[in-house]
Amino acid sequence: MCFKNIDTSHKLYSTLVPICWARIRLLLQQLTMMINRLLDGLLDRLINRLIKMQKKIKLIAVAVLSAVGLSTIFAQTDSYDPLLTVKEIMNGLITPTTTTIWGAYQLESDAQWQEVRNAALSVIAAGNLLQLGGSGEGESAMAAEADWRIYNQQMIDAARQVIAATNSKDEEALSAAGNDALYPPCESCHQQYQAR
Ligand code: HEC
Repeated sequence: MCFKNIDTSHKLYSTLVPICWARIRLLLQQLTMMINRLLDGLLDRLINRLIKMQKKIKLIAVAVLSAVGLSTIFAQTDSYDPLLTVKEIMNGLITPTTTTIWGAYQLESDAQWQEVRNAALSVIAAGNLLQLGGSGEGESAMAAEADWRIYNQQMIDAARQVIAATNSKDEEALSAAGNDALYPPCESCHQQYQAR
């Protein structure tokens, strides 16, 4: 219609041309709007895909990190195996430290009290080791028994009483803790487990 079969000499020519230009402008506007909409849709899809990818990457990262964490935890449990036999713990840690505690008498200097306190700390450390038993045969299974745990805990609690007595430099409390609290669990545990 526009520009087609138009006789430029036609009297309508001067009115038709502006109408045609207006139509072309409208078409161009519609075309740019369409292109804009198309680009918008593409961008939206692209962004959605990127967000999904980001979520997936995050999930994978979390999975990898927890796997690494778990494997280090498992590796650590391996290294928690006991390194000393119960006999070595008794002779190497318990005997020398309890000798210091039971032999404490007329303590005067701070250093003497400190020595008793350190001995009690070592008894607690030994008790901590005895929670796993020892590296000897069947010693881990022995340490899993309720009675073993009770005697061991009594020894640890007694060592804490010794520490309290050294904190207040109370020699009467120290000897009570040593004789009445620290000695009995040794006896009970030996009666039940030493012969095994
Ligand atoms: C939770 C149990 C338990 C407690 C608590 C315990 N012992 Fe023992 N002890 C044992 C066992 C088991 C043996 C035997 C180890 C072996 O012969 O293999 C032993 C052995 C010993 C031995 C002999 C080591 C040797 O060469 O045969 C001495 C000494 C000893 N303990 C001292 C003590 C003293 C002192 C205490 C208390 C402060 C104490 N133990 C608390 C379980 C315990």
